Amino acid sequence: MTSQKPQSRHGTGLEIVTIDGPSGSGKSTISRMLAARLGYAYLDTGAMYRAAGLAAMRAGIPLDDEEKIAALLDSAFDLELVPGPDDTRVLLGGEEVSREIRTAEMGLVASRVSALPAVRERLGALQREIGGRGRVVCEGRDMGTVVFPEAAWKFFLDASPEERARRRTAQLAERGEDADYHAILAQIRKRDHDDSSRAVAPLRPAPDAFVIDSSRMGMDEVVSLMLERITSR
Ligand code: DC
Repeated sequence: MTSQKPQSRHGTGLEIVTIDGPSGSGKSTISRMLAARLGYAYLDTGAMYRAAGLAAMRAGIPLDDEEKIAALLDSAFDLELVPGPDDTRVLLGGEEVSREIRTAEMGLVASRVSALPAVRERLGALQREIGGRGRVVCEGRDMGTVVFPEAAWKFFLDASPEERARRRTAQLAERGEDADYHAILAQIRKRDHDDSSRAVAPLRPAPDAFVIDSSRMGMDEVVSLMLERITSR
């Protein structure tokens, strides 16, 4: 709907929406829905950290060896993000790794490499290169705080750990995968702790972000609220 396409309030011509928040807050689905409604591209930065973690693992590099992982990203990190109907397809060196990177284990691996400043620096530069073209919804942990501080519209999407664990359990069960609510809740709490206590780019809302607690809201409701904010300014 063209009437819902916003104008940049900074006059830079760049229309960037950032959506940050903890894992399981519904960010990915909501970001994709919002991008579709606005006719914008969608940038899944979590997929980039997951792919970097997978590349490090495959190269046999310990996940805390910052220097070696940085060198790998500089020399042999051929990442392609292809927008798909339900998900971003992720290709690493031409090989599709979309499913492989989206396991809970790879989430923890991604969380570890994402704590390394040299990794954040490189992936942040890549994100700015892609998102800097504008008309994009950028989803992650530090989109509004670090990567796109100038973004026109910033959202921080939250939900209680219990609700996020419930959603994740249902999602996995739907796919026929093992889903133990208590194990998932423990994993979510650990990742929240790791992501928000790290020294670089910790997970937190930007001071000018609009915070939405989606614990008791449906996805459509959240997207409508975001569209309302976007079109009102
Ligand atoms: O959104 P996700 O679950 O796919 O992200 C995987 C991990 O990557 C998450 O634990 C934190 C990290 N991440 C990050 O540090 N910064 C981002 N912009 C996106 C993800």
